[in-house]
Formats: sequence, C-alpha cells, structure tokens
Amino acid sequence: MSNSIQSVLVETRVFPPPEGFVKQANISGQAAYQALLDESDRDPNGFWGRLAKENLHWTKPFTQVLDESNAPFYKWFGDGELNVSANCLEANIERGLGDKVAIIFEADGGEVTKVTYHELYERVCQMANGLKSLGYKTGDRAIIYLPMSIEAVAAMQACARLGIIHSVVFGGFSSKALHERIIDVGASLVITADEQVRGGKQIPLKPAVDEAFGMGGCDIVRHCLVYKRTGGSVAWDDKRDMWLHDLVKDQPKTCEAVPVNAEHPLFILYTSGSTGKPKGVQHSSGGYLLWAKLTMQWTFDAKPDDVFWCTADVGWVTGHTYITYGPLANGMTQIVFEGVPTYPNAGRFWEMIQRHHVSIFYTAPTAIRSLIKASEANAAVHPKSFDLSSLRLLGSVGEPINPEAWMWYHINVGQERCPIVDTWWQTETGGHMITPLPGVTPLKPGSCTTRLPGITAAIVDETGGDVEAGQGGFLVIKRPWPSMIRTIWGDPERFKTSYFPEELRGYYLAGDGAQCDADNCFWIMGRIDDVLNVSGHRLGTMEVESALVAHELVAEAAVVGRPDATTGEAVVAFVVLKRATPDGDEAVAIAKQLRDWISKEIGPIAKPKEIRFGDNLPKTRSGKIMRRLLRVVAKGEEVTQDVSTLENPAILDQLTKPV
Ligand code: PRX
Repeated sequence: MSNSIQSVLVETRVFPPPEGFVKQANISGQAAYQALLDESDRDPNGFWGRLAKENLHWTKPFTQVLDESNAPFYKWFGDGELNVSANCLEANIERGLGDKVAIIFEADGGEVTKVTYHELYERVCQMANGLKSLGYKTGDRAIIYLPMSIEAVAAMQACARLGIIHSVVFGGFSSKALHERIIDVGASLVITADEQVRGGKQIPLKPAVDEAFGMGGCDIVRHCLVYKRTGGSVAWDDKRDMWLHDLVKDQPKTCEAVPVNAEHPLFILYTSGSTGKPKGVQHSSGGYLLWAKLTMQWTFDAKPDDVFWCTADVGWVTGHTYITYGPLANGMTQIVFEGVPTYPNAGRFWEMIQRHHVSIFYTAPTAIRSLIKASEANAAVHPKSFDLSSLRLLGSVGEPINPEAWMWYHINVGQERCPIVDTWWQTETGGHMITPLPGVTPLKPGSCTTRLPGITAAIVDETGGDVEAGQGGFLVIKRPWPSMIRTIWGDPERFKTSYFPEELRGYYLAGDGAQCDADNCFWIMGRIDDVLNVSGHRLGTMEVESALVAHELVAEAAVVGRPDATTGEAVVAFVVLKRATPDGDEAVAIAKQLRDWISKEIGPIAKPKEIRFGDNLPKTRSGKIMRRLLRVVAKGEEVTQDVSTLENPAILDQLTKPV
C-alpha cells in the first residue's frame, strides 16, 4: 500500500452534518437514509421501479424493471419508452418553470448570457429540426467536438430529442484521437466550432476536425456543422461544412420529441482502459436519466432556488450527468463556464460564485490544489477575499481528495458551514455511487464515505469473497443498477472481460482498489490496472506507450504514474530510442519533441511530465517490463524490492537520472 494511502487512513477527523442542513435536506438524517437502504436491499426491483415511475415521464410505461436473462447485458425498464430531452425541457415547462433561468453562461472573457427553460427548449427544437432537415434520425451517431457553451448543451439535447446517439469528444483531444472516435462510433455527423477560447487565447477546433477527415475512412460523415464562436478563419468544404446558425435560423421552434426505448443508447463516451484503445462506454436513456436526476436530489440536495455549478467540461462524464442531464432534469438553474479557473486570475471561481450567487459548487481536487497554491501567493485571489455566503454545499470528484486539500476547501471555501460531498463514481457508472449525503453522513476528509441506496458497493478479494473491514481489496458493485454501462460500443466481449471477470461471481469490477473502515466508509486507494488519473482525467499507460512507440525515433517505451502534489498523478515515460541514448541538450530537445508528439497524438493532458532515456528497460528474463520497479524509480526512491528476476539490473541506475 502506498504511503499516501497510509497517511489518509490514519485520518481521524469527523465532521457531522450541520444541524441546519439536516433539517432541510431531501434525505434528512440517518433513519431516512437507512430506510432507503433497507428498501433497496429488501426488494431492489420494487425500489428502482418505484423511483423510475415517480421521477421520469414515460410515453409508454414499463412493465418489467430488470431483465437479467442475458447478464451482464442487463436491461432496465426495457419495454418502457421515453424521451430524455422532453424529460429535461417540456417536463419543466409544463410544471410552470418556462421562465426560470436554466443556464447562466459565462464566457472566458466574462460576458454573461442567460437562457430560460423556454428559450433553451426553443433552441434545442430548432437545432433538432435542423438535424432532421438534413436527414438525421434515431440511431445515427453524432460526434460533438465543441467548447463549453450553451450550444454544446443544446446539441446534446437536440440529439437526445431525436434519439441520435451523441459521442462528445473533449476539445482538448487531438485530431488523431478525434479521428479514432469518429471511425469507432461510425459517426455520420460532426458538430464543432471554428475555435474555442480559453484563458484569453483562441484555440482552433475546426482545423482539428479537417485534419481528422484528412486521415481517411470518414466517408460516412455527411455533414460538419460549425458553431461560429470567434469568427476566426477556417477552411471550408462546401459539400460537407455548414454553419450552425444558417442551419437553425429559419427552423420552427417546436419539435416533437421522439420516444425511444428505455435501453436506446443516449450516448457513447470514450474513456481509457488498460489497453491502448479507448473504450466507447455506452449508456442507456431511461436508467441513466433516472440516476442523473435522483443523484442531483440526493447527493446535491437540489432545491428550486439553488444555483448549481459543476466546473467540469461536457467532454467528460461529469459534464454529461451533472451539466447536460441531471440539473436540467430537475429544473435547476446552473452555471456553464467556458474558461479556466486561473484566468484572468486564480480568483475566477470565487468571483463567479459571488457574482452568480452559486449555492452548490462541484469541482475536482486538482483545481482545488492549484488554487490553494495561487491563493497562498496572492491574497487578492484567496477565497476569503470574496463573498461566498451563497454557498451551502460543496462537492469533489474525479480523484481522491487528500485531507489537506479537503480541509482547505472546508475552511476557506465552505467557511466551515458547508458539507463537502466527495463523490466516487466513473464514466461507466453514469452517476454517483459512493458519496456522503449532506444531510446524513458524518464526513471524513479523504473518504468518499458510504454507498448510495440501491448501490451494492463492496470490497472483495480475488475470488469475490468479502474482505473484513480495514482490509484492502477490489471495489465491486454486486448487483446491477439502472445507470450502469450497457456495453463497450462494438466490443461486447471486452465489456464482459473488463467489468465482469468470471472469478468475481458476476460482480461489476470497478478497477479501483479500496478499503472499508468499521463505519462502512470507503477509502479509495487508486487503480488496480494500468490506468492513471492525471488531474482527474483517466489515461491509459498503454495509450501513451503506443503513441510514443509510433514516433520514428522510439524503439520502446514504458509509462508509469508518479504521485504529484497538484495533478494527483503525473505521467513519467521511460524511453529507449532507436539510436544512441542521448544526454545533455540533445536529451532535452528530444524529450520536448516527444512531449509535443504526445500532445498531437492524444492531447495535451497526456503529455509526460518527465521523460527519461535509457539503453533498455528493466525486464524479466522472459522479457516482461518490470513496471513496479519503474514506479519506484520514477518517484526518485531507492529500489529496495526484490530484483532477482531482473535480467539487467544495471539499467536501473541509468533510469534514475532525469533529463
Ligand atoms: O479511480 C477512480 C477515480 O476516477 C476513476 C473514474 O474516472 P472517470 O471514469 O474518468 O470518471 C471521473 C469522474 C466520475 C475511478 O475509477 N475517482 C473518481 N472519483 C473519485 C475517484 N477516486 C477517489 N475519490 C473519488 N471521489
């Protein structure tokens, strides 16, 4: 077990939920939580069926809650029909929320645009009518490669309205990554923007799409719709490219939502696994929306007057569930932010909370850690320099939050009165799984605490047997839940072997190591596979390795993670070149070349923090790279482990030297 986990596990501070919060909470007090747990454990299907009936508008009611006949390809509410977008828009307008602000959009430069539910409905309908006019229909796949904008949310909703399956690609991904996703998902439509604006800089987007098309194999893409964000100049293909504003301007402002089967894929979102090829995680319509809606009410205690702000990008699952779908399904007012936390200065988040009276704030530990540093250096950007009295609840997501960062968030942002919900979940789970409930759970800094009702999270050993409290093991979910991944797009076999390995008795294997304490609180210890978590973003070591060896200079590469005070984990690459091992300026120059290459192949988030060159990699006699040794070397620690199976021990010395 790593030292950082040990230090987290000796954490003994406990923060009971504030009385005032408990009184008004949607789930109020331990007994209310226990009653839901009991109901879900006693009769899971009855529990989920009740919630699905109470919370969603079905155009055709379901008669069966769960179909397990083809496990692990579970079907939820499988004979029911609904439309996700109608559940987010019409459902709110019908209950009188048409004039309520749905989105407060703040651009990178500070301009603010607000749209009401009615206005958003009209924009989504116009976009959907535009798509329809081009012949797009239920089951088609659309790639969305857009900056954070009202248009991005509207594009996702417009797809959902017609049953078009969207696959959002984060704007920070390269043309190569985009190309891979266009092909894998079989997209016939791409929606992008001319440029994006981040931190005062204009960054091209459409050129990356053009480059992706240029890589070949994209012939089934019939249109590329372009949102004009900056007016920057872009190349144009008259046959394929079309301005979004031209397409939508004369479209009718109503568009009947197409009812789809509850199991119809709402979206496919790519995430990293333990091989080089990203996995297209397929989510459903009914089960996914149910959990997106409910977790807003449970974890975030959503209330009609809240102003909710999730700082994630819609390119990640957090932005799907807690921007595009969850808040809208609950008729909430939310912030959508185009920019970055450090522009024009590191007080941007706090200033925006003050300006828009944000009451619920949800961000990632990496952002918190970088803002701690900035505000220690400059009191003007410290949260205490802003009026944060509107806040009532804070959230954290994406990676373990270290107790120091937790305490800083609690004291300086939450002013010691706001509960913090440290939410553990994954792209595959669709929504929160293990998290405090703010009106119930005593908080422990560094622990995501307890399972949500209906979620049978547990720690097991390699045969699926329960382990005792305090023992490490695999984090699994024993029974299916509605918002779970349905399959890996185009690769059902990989779905089965990755998530439901035979030895684990049919449990869902999350891929995280964890342990549970005597209060049933979970402590996440990190991934058990070759997946890294850099700034809350998942990255496969194999992905980075494949990209490195695709470079003409590289013969071999091994990538490992190293704990990092700001980004959680950092990428360290060990590289063997096809030519002599470089040193000095030459090594620096080649390292830069390789970092730029990774940025182009995958995206800037995958750039190794450090590259080390060697004549070889540490290998066993059978030729297997000994990554555990590389992890030690990357940390700058002395190798004290057994190296008797190592064929070339001398190599470790060479690899300890940073470039
Ligand atoms: O290792 C866990 C970590 O992030 C992984 C999921 O990454 P992704 O699919 O990109 O989704 C991130 C946003 C939900 C998990 O397997 N992780 C996520 N949340 C937490 C976490 N680790 C510790 N604590 C968390 N709250």
